[in-house]
Amino acid sequence: MTWWKNRRKIVLGITGGISAYKSPEILRGLIKAGCDVEVVLTAAGERFVSPMVLSTLAGKRVWRQEDFLSDEMGWRMPHISLADWADAVVIAPCTAETLSNLARGTGRELLCSLVLAAQSPVIVFPAMNVHMLAHPATEENCEILKKRGVTVAEPETGSLACGYEGKGRLPGVEVIMEELWRALCPSKSLEGKNVLVTAGPTWEYLDPVRFISNPSTGKMGYAMARTAWYRGGRVTFVHGPAEFSNLEGFSARSVVSALEMKKEVMAVSGGMDVIVKAAAVGDFRAATLSGRKIKREKLDTTTIELEQNDDIAAALGKIKRPGQILV
Ligand SMILES: Cc1cc2nc3c(=O)[nH]c(=O)nc-3n(C[C@H](O)[C@H](O)[C@H](O)COP(=O)(O)O)c2cc1C
Repeated sequence: MTWWKNRRKIVLGITGGISAYKSPEILRGLIKAGCDVEVVLTAAGERFVSPMVLSTLAGKRVWRQEDFLSDEMGWRMPHISLADWADAVVIAPCTAETLSNLARGTGRELLCSLVLAAQSPVIVFPAMNVHMLAHPATEENCEILKKRGVTVAEPETGSLACGYEGKGRLPGVEVIMEELWRALCPSKSLEGKNVLVTAGPTWEYLDPVRFISNPSTGKMGYAMARTAWYRGGRVTFVHGPAEFSNLEGFSARSVVSALEMKKEVMAVSGGMDVIVKAAAVGDFRAATLSGRKIKREKLDTTTIELEQNDDIAAALGKIKRPGQILV
């Protein structure tokens, strides 16, 4: 594991939105990634997910609103001690109410006081009904927080628990983890830079049902693209046919053949500061693409004529700008 991902101390804030039912999975994801996690629940959060579930998964007590000013726990000043302890504060889900409280800097809730005291990165994952999210008050609150350096993650679009279709869903655990790593990455060496990464194989069709390819998984290109994104790069990810479970944060373009890969790459290459060529682009394609399935026709052998694909790396080399980095 990358050294800076090791044993990070995370406060996981959980507020009272319907998607809080996913928060035990988020907690498990953080623990599985080796994080030390302290859970802070708002009073409304407790209505959606039980402290018992969370404390059992965490293997320790969780912090509740009733602890904040209590005789037993108040003297520990959990809002200060947890803020001082944390490497990052993640609020998932984050309700419209908590966004508003954070934007106004109120301290009534333990979680909001903790954010006021936090010196570490704060990442919030708004999740709510599509109209609540689009309300000017919510939009303004998000903008205020962004201006203060809080990472306000984009909610996902899809079917919402309230019955609506649209934007407002809490992203999955993988997306939440990647946002966290991005916030914690110690290097921002690619801040403001445009980075193009190619990944995966290409498929060169012989007929409508057959193609020649290679076993590239695209994993290396994906890892390089993620790292560039952690480091602050604006990442364009041009990939051949391979499975990628999370392309969030990238401008992703999917291609099939080497010809398509070349077209996409050449179209954007001029504006790139760094180009990483990690795709396993097929060297050859069928000289003539059969319009229908090539039949056996009692032949023991058959011959398929191949022609060379263009060398994308060489083409990029020819138009390389001064200062542009090709890898
Ligand atoms: C069934 C139900 C579901 C709710 N879901 C959401 C939600 O997904 N997002 C949201 O912003 N508010 C939602 N609310 C409203 C919040 O629970 C309410 O604003 C609460 O005061 C939030 O408090 P907190 O931010 O301190 O946790 C929901 C309310 C109910 C009754």
